[in-house]
Amino acid sequence: MCGIVGFVGRKEAAPILLEGLRRLEYRGYDSAGVAVYGSDGLQVVKTKGRIQALAEQVETRGGLNGSIGLGHTRWATHGAPSDINSHPHVSENGRIAVVHNGIIENYAEIREFLESTGVHFVSETDTEVVAQLLEYYYQGNILDAVTKALHRIRGAYALGILCADCPDRLIAARKDSPLILGFGEGFHVLASDVTAVIEHTRDVCYLDDGEIAELTADHCWVYDAYLRPVEKEHRHVDWEISAAEKGGYEHFMLKEIMEQPKAVRDTITPRIRDGKVVLDELEFSPEYLKNLDKIYIIACGSSYHVGMAAKYVLERLLRKPVEVALASEFRYCDPIVTEKTLALVISQSGETIDTLAALREAKRLGARVLSIVNVVGSSIARESDGVLYTWAGPEIAVATTKAYSTQLAVVDLIGLAFARAMGTIGEEEYAKLLAALEDLPRQLEEVLSHREQIQYLASIYFNHPSVFFIGRNLDYAVGLEGSLKLKEISYLHSEAYAAGELKHGTISLIESGTLVVALAGCRPVFEKTMSNVVEVKSRGADVLGLTIAPLEEAVGKVVDHTLTVPETHPLLLPSLEVVPMQLFAYYVALMHGCDIDKPRNLAKSVTVE
Ligand code: F6R
Repeated sequence: MCGIVGFVGRKEAAPILLEGLRRLEYRGYDSAGVAVYGSDGLQVVKTKGRIQALAEQVETRGGLNGSIGLGHTRWATHGAPSDINSHPHVSENGRIAVVHNGIIENYAEIREFLESTGVHFVSETDTEVVAQLLEYYYQGNILDAVTKALHRIRGAYALGILCADCPDRLIAARKDSPLILGFGEGFHVLASDVTAVIEHTRDVCYLDDGEIAELTADHCWVYDAYLRPVEKEHRHVDWEISAAEKGGYEHFMLKEIMEQPKAVRDTITPRIRDGKVVLDELEFSPEYLKNLDKIYIIACGSSYHVGMAAKYVLERLLRKPVEVALASEFRYCDPIVTEKTLALVISQSGETIDTLAALREAKRLGARVLSIVNVVGSSIARESDGVLYTWAGPEIAVATTKAYSTQLAVVDLIGLAFARAMGTIGEEEYAKLLAALEDLPRQLEEVLSHREQIQYLASIYFNHPSVFFIGRNLDYAVGLEGSLKLKEISYLHSEAYAAGELKHGTISLIESGTLVVALAGCRPVFEKTMSNVVEVKSRGADVLGLTIAPLEEAVGKVVDHTLTVPETHPLLLPSLEVVPMQLFAYYVALMHGCDIDKPRNLAKSVTVE
């Protein structure tokens, strides 16, 4: 989704902005632009297409002079991707440049009003309204104009503003869309994502909703919506810049798949002490947990799929009802939530707007919120009553892999810790499950060591135009994720079904040559699943089976090819099974020549509803 970077200091701004934009490319975008103020005044270059095209245009102009500027990558919402709709947008008098992430909901009404005063708009975007409104309110004090404009607009925004009348400062403002400020010797930066500025500083702070910041080379002031000063806490970003680089892999996605043993190890090890799971971060008493009426899991996309697996795990361990809701549906379904409901919110980015809005709704209805988040200091983390971070490190590929795996590991930790506190697990079962969890990183390494076999099978099956993933119970939850991985990066049609559900309609689509990926690692339902596999096989499907090593022979008798993972505790099966599914999707997409790290139409962090 859109990205923002801003710089004010004593060096040339343009190269810093372009490099920052390159680091934001992974978020997904369709156009890009920069505005720099210098001896040539306010210079704006923007274009549809890649950062490289923008950099070439800047070069053709002989560069942009000036040590203050803003950059933006746009993911089109209002108005098609085009040069004119790209940001920065500049007010009619050419003196105020704006970059914006989010959506201005009442833009049409404001545009109509401004047009009635004689303002001419050049783009179709909601963002241009902000630039024009700022000019309308500007009477010599840009901060005043910003507060007036912000009181008038509705919607979500992270804004970067540069006014030619005060060219020593950038203004930033945020509501529901992330924005960070970075501090350095003789410079300040702003960005929608730390990856854009980590090269320059690790000393950052996160703007909160309603806050406005004013940045010069040497000073940074933060205010609330009424311009009252606000003290901000600085945070240190401690991951290495190499974590956001490919490190010899062809794609970030492959690198991140291969990092899963480490990511899972980093996530679980600090939370296991003396044979027990210790979640120091949480303050939920055993009484509170025992009295829960329900756990409501809220998430989107792959995080939702983790929620689907979590339902099986948590219901089994805690003996409490667990409901899983798509965040975009939760808000509008009149959910039954009480003070005894725990909302478990799952999000890699911590900024997905649907999930954030659902979190707020759950809180409003009285639930306490526990979140599982990867990005430290993100909105979801900050607004939760308790947060368990997944220590996956930065995830750059749009298709999530290591964040998914670490989210699952945190679910298992929660299951163990809560079950013990609630008295719903015996000592022996607890010890077995914990030992299996600690062994996961090693088993993940083993699964990854077979990636050439998966590459070979991808080369056999990559040309099937339509793929069904079937499985029961936890196998079904993994099938959902396997199917999403495949379709999002290879653009093949794919669906996931609970294996027993197929015969209620969808089986009519199975014919000679359809590829079915059958997940059959779940022992308690193994025979039932295999009956469903026989049903598709006898209708002509090509079947790729996935199971645990001890069941390989039984599966192999029915299917065309079999992939295996080592046996683990049955509740941890998804952690191992998902890896061959990720690799299969990766290699199929590779064989189709797809842009794996930046699939079409997708964005890493979805900050619009
Ligand atoms: C798919 C994927 C998305 C995200 C979804 C939620 O590979 O990454 O489906 O899982 O957009 O994002 P987060 O977890 O950041 O809330």
